[in-house]
Amino acid sequence: MNYKILVSKAFEGRSNAYVPYSNFKVGAAILMEDDSIYTGCNIENASYGATNCAERTAIFKAISDGHKEIKAIAIVGLENDYTYPCGICRQVIAEFAAEDIKIIIAKNKDEYIVKNLEEILPGAFTKKDLQK
Ligand code: THU
Repeated sequence: MNYKILVSKAFEGRSNAYVPYSNFKVGAAILMEDDSIYTGCNIENASYGATNCAERTAIFKAISDGHKEIKAIAIVGLENDYTYPCGICRQVIAEFAAEDIKIIIAKNKDEYIVKNLEEILPGAFTKKDLQK
């Protein structure tokens, strides 16, 4: 898998961020089970709680198109700084994560950190818990 391509797609996603309130642009790109890529941006709202994060925008686009599993997700936020996914997005990533999902947190197109799910959401509550 080419992390750099996914990071550059996350930057493309970020360019569409709608952030009139925070001015904090976030972009995400996800690689699905069939190698298709979906991008997302954060979309804010005058009713702040209605805001949707970049990660969930990308994920909901892919799932609503019939995709099932995320092989990798790249996230970019502040210029030259690492922006980690919020708690709600970590939970949504967990819901659709492939067993060996890679979470790529990028500072710029050349510098990024790669994490696995257990590192960003230790002891996650998942569908497996509901089957017990
Ligand atoms: N944000 C994201 O898009 N993803 C995250 O994981 C963290 C937060 C957005 C939401 C809001 O538009 C802005 O960043 C500030 O919280």
